[in-house]
Amino acid sequence: MKVLLTGGCGYIGSHTAVELLNKDYEIVIIDNLVNSKESVISDIKKITGKDVIFYKGDVRDKDLLNKIFNENEIDSVIHFAGLKAVGESCIKPLDYYDNNLNSTISLLEVMKDYNCKKIVFSSSATVYGKPDSLPIREDAKLETSNPYGTTKLMIEYILKDLYKSDNSFDITILRYFNPIGAHESGLIGESPNGIPNNLMPYIVKVATKEYDELKVFGNDYDTKDGTGVRDYIHVVDLALGHVKALEKISGSGLNIYNLGTGTGYSVLDIVKTFEEVNNVKVPYKIVDRRPGDIDSCYADPTKAYESLGWKANKDLKDMCKDAYNFVNKNK
Ligand code: NAD
Ligand code: UFG
Repeated sequence: MKVLLTGGCGYIGSHTAVELLNKDYEIVIIDNLVNSKESVISDIKKITGKDVIFYKGDVRDKDLLNKIFNENEIDSVIHFAGLKAVGESCIKPLDYYDNNLNSTISLLEVMKDYNCKKIVFSSSATVYGKPDSLPIREDAKLETSNPYGTTKLMIEYILKDLYKSDNSFDITILRYFNPIGAHESGLIGESPNGIPNNLMPYIVKVATKEYDELKVFGNDYDTKDGTGVRDYIHVVDLALGHVKALEKISGSGLNIYNLGTGTGYSVLDIVKTFEEVNNVKVPYKIVDRRPGDIDSCYADPTKAYESLGWKANKDLKDMCKDAYNFVNKNK
């Protein structure tokens, strides 16, 4: 019985692969390496001392999916594969709709053909748009403001409709908040191509002097210090959330969970903690707000705790320390 991880060479998929292997799951990865490197496979093996079956290819390729399901007895799937850059999705919306939607549809069709009916899907807090109240519960209103977010919401609708048509599927939708940090070994972590859009990868590049300063997007938000507040979660805690989700998935039907810590930190909280724990300077300047950003976003993670027995354990110091350790080990 194997677990198929689509996009398993990526940031969250690779950390989840490690935690699943640590629990003695057998895993198969399909990834087209559009945003990752094949060397991640050997890093996963190095960390765990366990083997991984890897197929290089696209999840939209049904012939390849058929081959994978023929060659392996796949019990369940965690579907990470997708394009994820908000800004890029506004410039190339068709690429995002094609990649994220068509990969999901191909995958679900092949799963149905092979009677594999357990799937965990990587959704995002982006589906909450601008929340009416905080912390955000799973039953909050849903809206999106960019093509990337819309693909996530559309996939949630596809999964809900699939479940209505065939309730022998077990479908777990995980809405991630802001994953940061890296595996403590420093072997796997987040290494985005090009100029990072997200806060932590940018801070890391300022700390290593690749960039002169961080641009803080606005200090006039309705938050304690005026900078944006988010629910940052250590990627290893997030990975463990997937292990719990798989443990509970058989016979569970369709469920949606927030994976966040429940605590919001501001941009300046992150800068200060990063400087303190790593003993480095992160020079910054305040610039205009980034279009589309909201004041605050943090989860109510109660449902995941009560139903899955999962909660985040690592704190902001761990996140900042591990993010910096990863970059220093991979310069
Ligand atoms: P990532 O880009 O590091 O990993 C995604 C992986 O999928 C990459 O290795 C990429 O090469 C692969 N991929 C993309 N399209 C593919 C395709 N058609 N066929 C095969 N492989 C394909 O991203 P991540 O941060 O690990 O995110 C994983 C999932 O979680 C994504 O679906 C993302 O939208 C979602 N998510 C991420 C965040 C975040 O902040 N990182 C937040 C919320 C949700
Ligand atoms: N920020 C800066 N400077 C930067 C980058 C970010 O000040 O260079 C600020 C932003 O304005 C925001 C906070 O840091 O207040 C976090 O920004 P990120 O870009 O790291 O994260 P977002 O919350 O904007 O978005 C991320 C993903 C989305 C996902 C969302 C929730 O990019 O795809 O988390 O999971 F939907």
